[in-house]
Amino acid sequence: MEKFVIRGGNPLMGEVVVSGAKNAAVAILPATILAKGKCVIENLPNISDVTASVDILSAMGAQVRLLNKHTLEVDTSHITGTVVPDELSRQMRASYYFLGALLGRFGQATVAMPGGCNLGPRPIDQHLKAFTAFGAKDSVEGGMIDVRAENGLRGEEVFFDTVTVGATINAMLAAVMAEGTTVLENVAKEPHIVDVANFLNTMGADVRGAGTDVIKIRGVKKMHGCTYSIIPDQIEAGSYMVAAAITGGNVLIQNVIPKHLEPITSKLEKAGATVEEFDDSVRVSRQGDIEPLNIKTMPHPGFPTDMQPLMTALLCLAKGTSIITEGIWENRFRYVDELSRMGVNIQVAGRVAVIEGVHHLRPAPLRATDLRAGAAMVMAALAADGVSEISEIGHIERGYEDIVGKLQGLGADIRRVSKPETLLRKAL
Ligand code: EPU
Repeated sequence: MEKFVIRGGNPLMGEVVVSGAKNAAVAILPATILAKGKCVIENLPNISDVTASVDILSAMGAQVRLLNKHTLEVDTSHITGTVVPDELSRQMRASYYFLGALLGRFGQATVAMPGGCNLGPRPIDQHLKAFTAFGAKDSVEGGMIDVRAENGLRGEEVFFDTVTVGATINAMLAAVMAEGTTVLENVAKEPHIVDVANFLNTMGADVRGAGTDVIKIRGVKKMHGCTYSIIPDQIEAGSYMVAAAITGGNVLIQNVIPKHLEPITSKLEKAGATVEEFDDSVRVSRQGDIEPLNIKTMPHPGFPTDMQPLMTALLCLAKGTSIITEGIWENRFRYVDELSRMGVNIQVAGRVAVIEGVHHLRPAPLRATDLRAGAAMVMAALAADGVSEISEIGHIERGYEDIVGKLQGLGADIRRVSKPETLLRKAL
């Protein structure tokens, strides 16, 4: 069992470089299957969700070469299988993108029900709605989802009942080589939707409108390999913005697209931080008090749900009461019990959390209940008066590249250690 040990209290100072976007990477890697050739993917984050995607590609017969720390060459020419092994697909939520990519290339795919963070029910009915509209049949048996289009895929109009990132991307993957034109309506508009569309177009697809409510796709007969660089991670950038604000520090966050950060910037400014925007960096600092806020998470360009736990951590130190409403996930407040151990009073009723700010956070043993909740624990521990320990850090390492090294570079007192085995386990 590994853990982070953090002595809080140091205002973070200096510069940190943001890695490539996790949620773009985990879609772009499966999308290379559509190229039936060699793709060079640059600016990949070094995180375990990317490793899991690469493991699946390799298991399917792709040849993957590491060109440098953040660049992979993926040759999908010789993939023949269409079944993603159960134990690999369970490792992460985004394994569902193999459904769209394999269906798009081979007309069939079988993938286990995906794993990933537990944020309440995570249905995939909208993914299946798009696949069946394109002519595929689906079945779920023994925890495996099977989709197949025996007579090929044809373009169709699909109106999503809810705005979903995963179904928007999966529908694009399945539609790019379908016959005719596809129109996807009420789609998600997150920066990584646009990134995946740009990647597909670089491989020869004809996808227009990504970033708006309607995406139009003209099916092409064939796609090809390409070289593509992934956008910076909006949520990792936002996390370091919170780290600067919560510790009363001054940090230049580099390799970002400031436009993608606007919903976060605007809330941090209201909370009392100063945010300066440059071409590809932002500087975040805070000297005065943290002001309480009301936040509701929404699909992009609203305030991102993935920043919700991090903002809760910040608002624990606000001068008053804040209200956070979770607009995307049914159960994304499971972590508040952990923050309560630090002396904060947080009341949760359904999708609403009311946070009464305190002057100081007490150090505590904390658990990373999921990826972003884990990052929130790190932020709270950085601001606490003493030494906190965070367990179950595997969740955090799914999505944050070298979080320990990056925070140490900003002056944080954080170490990653292995927990000694309990006596009982030693005895066994
Ligand atoms: N939904 C449905 N039916 C579907 C799909 C989604 O009802 O078929 C609902 C969900 O239950 C949820 C809402 O629609 O209430 C939005 O879900 P969405 O499909 O957008 O989420 P996702 O694609 O499963 C991605 C990110 C999440 C992020 C959400 C929302 C990846 C791999 N994951 O999940 O990221 O919270 O979009 O922005 O891209 C994270 O990085 O920590 C993370 C959880």
